[in-house]
Amino acid sequence: MSTAPDDLWQVRRMRPHDVEAVVQIERSSYSHPWSERIFRDCLRVGYRAWVVDRTGRSVAGYALASIAVGEAHLLNLCVAGAARGSGAACRLLDTVIAQAEAEHADELFLEVRPSNRAARRLYARYGFETRGRRPNYYPDRHGREDALVLSKVITI
Ligand SMILES: CC(C)(COP(=O)(O)OP(=O)(O)OC[C@H]1O[C@@H](n2cnc3c(N)ncnc32)[C@H](O)[C@@H]1OP(=O)(O)O)[C@@H](O)C(=O)NCCC(=O)NCCS
Repeated sequence: MSTAPDDLWQVRRMRPHDVEAVVQIERSSYSHPWSERIFRDCLRVGYRAWVVDRTGRSVAGYALASIAVGEAHLLNLCVAGAARGSGAACRLLDTVIAQAEAEHADELFLEVRPSNRAARRLYARYGFETRGRRPNYYPDRHGREDALVLSKVITI
């Protein structure tokens, strides 16, 4: 699926030298960001990881997914504040879905905060549906917040 207005984005595999830029975006985007170590461990254990950028410019966003035994899980999807609203997340999500298809995953799962309107709208556009709720899954300023579990059936 492609809903993005801006096709200048290019997606490529995340490499170790991208992690520094990725961590900066992560820290400026989340109240409880992943550490640099988590990103490096994800690359080390072979999770699928991509960055999005414009030719010759710095990393603007990233996605990580685990894909195994017929199931894919979107672990993180994030776009730098200044780059939002021009289709970068769509480019990344298109790539994750294509990879899940290529690896014969039947379904792509993810967790999202109920309060995250931008992300929920993005996932709704892609046909994700709510499958359940994990109580007290995320830390937040007031304690904990539930996670919604969403999934999309991958059609081959
Ligand atoms: C959610 C996020 C990844 C979207 O990135 P983006 O590059 O701005 O998204 P895109 O430009 O590709 O927009 C795709 C769709 O997402 C939805 N969307 C994006 N930003 C939105 C906003 N501020 N409000 C409502 N919907 C929004 C829309 O459906 C949009 O399509 P449309 O503009 O045609 O309606 C980005 O806001 C982000 O990184 N947020 C912080 C990290 C995060 O919450 N990640 C998700 C964790 S589950």
